[in-house]
Amino acid sequence: MFKKDFVWGAATSAYQIEGAAYADGKGLTIWDTFCKKDGVIFDGHSGDDACEHYYRYKEDVALMKQVGLRAYRLSLSWARILPSGTGAVNPKGIEFYNNLIDELLKNGITPYITLYHWDLPLELYHKGGWLNRESADWFAEYARIAVTNFGDRVKHFMTFNEPQVAVGMGFASGIHAPGLKMAPSETVRMTHNILLAHGKAVKAMREIAPDLKIGIVPVNIFSYPEIETPENIALARKLSFDMIDHPTDWFFSAAWWGDPVMFGKYPEDGLKRFGQWLPDGWERDMETIKQPIDFYGPNFYEGRAVQVSASENNGYTTKRFRYPGCPKTAFNWPITPEGLKWAAIFLHERYKLPIYIMENGLSCHDVISLDGKVHDPNRIDYLNRHLLALREAAESGADVAGYFQWSLLDNFEWASGYSERFGLVYVDFTTQQRIIKDSGHWYRGVIESNGENL
Ligand code: NOJ
Repeated sequence: MFKKDFVWGAATSAYQIEGAAYADGKGLTIWDTFCKKDGVIFDGHSGDDACEHYYRYKEDVALMKQVGLRAYRLSLSWARILPSGTGAVNPKGIEFYNNLIDELLKNGITPYITLYHWDLPLELYHKGGWLNRESADWFAEYARIAVTNFGDRVKHFMTFNEPQVAVGMGFASGIHAPGLKMAPSETVRMTHNILLAHGKAVKAMREIAPDLKIGIVPVNIFSYPEIETPENIALARKLSFDMIDHPTDWFFSAAWWGDPVMFGKYPEDGLKRFGQWLPDGWERDMETIKQPIDFYGPNFYEGRAVQVSASENNGYTTKRFRYPGCPKTAFNWPITPEGLKWAAIFLHERYKLPIYIMENGLSCHDVISLDGKVHDPNRIDYLNRHLLALREAAESGADVAGYFQWSLLDNFEWASGYSERFGLVYVDFTTQQRIIKDSGHWYRGVIESNGENL
């Protein structure tokens, strides 16, 4: 059973849906310019127009209402509010988010706000971005402005969305903006500055509005027991928090980001490998990074099954990621609902905070059928399985407080452009027509029954 006050929602992010990239005084971001480079985004797409949500937000809130959402997770565009990242505030940006928040509240939908969903203001990037220690102060100032303007009506804020991906794919693999391939000598410093930015922002927000509920949104590939024996569970728990043993994947570690925030410490195995790249005097920042927060908000997309094995050198086998014939999404991501169950259990055990799943969903090959509808049985099956798994986690004692499906609308899927559709609502990107998919209607029933009909 889910709790009586379980929060049912869906999520989006600013650059992926707003469009209006150059309108009403918005400043440029690293994504605006990255998308203009040759060959970096599928078919040269960009978020210039995206879902035109900036102009169509009322229609979109009406769709949320039809889907029955109780909560909606959006992100703010830092550069729409502060075009240069610091300094002068853009009144039109504040007005847009005020209008959106008011429209949500009028329709009985609770807003959850993410401050940073990857769209770093370009001006700040030119000043060194997350490599510059001052970025922590820039971010805290932005957080303060957000809470000053919206904190009277919005009570749930999240600092960073998937900082793992922001650093890993933006600055190490270079698949995302700004497309750089840096070494740990630089990226480790970035992770530290981002964690410091988190801590300083939490402090700043609490000074203005002590009643806020604040969290962070990490993503990890959690291990789960292939067969639920005590040995396999213990192995999965350990592997889930070990430093990932892959030269370019280490930022996906759960503990590297979670332990500083929650315990004020980097994990020992991480320090051994990367401590040398932390900035001088990093130890003095740990108290600031460890601000009390109110919830942990992981995104979940895939896990990996593991099993103790005496015959293997490292003592276990793993069906890591993509074994032949595994169930997978249109993006070719493996479908592993058990991973969600164990991610919620392990995170709650370790950090002892309420868990909100802040994103979960899949891309499908959605089309408008001859009957004019969008039938997406695979999405319904995926969500159903993941919600059942999450319910098991709740029934086993993990404090599971909410679930946000990714995503409300089909939208700009970063380097994949508009080629991957994650929405409960289909968007025709030529006409901007929206159609609620079968899954959107199905989700309404789930919400109405508080998950009893699963
Ligand atoms: C997580 C990211 O936060 C979101 O922006 C993205 O669209 C989904 N994953 C799907 O890739």
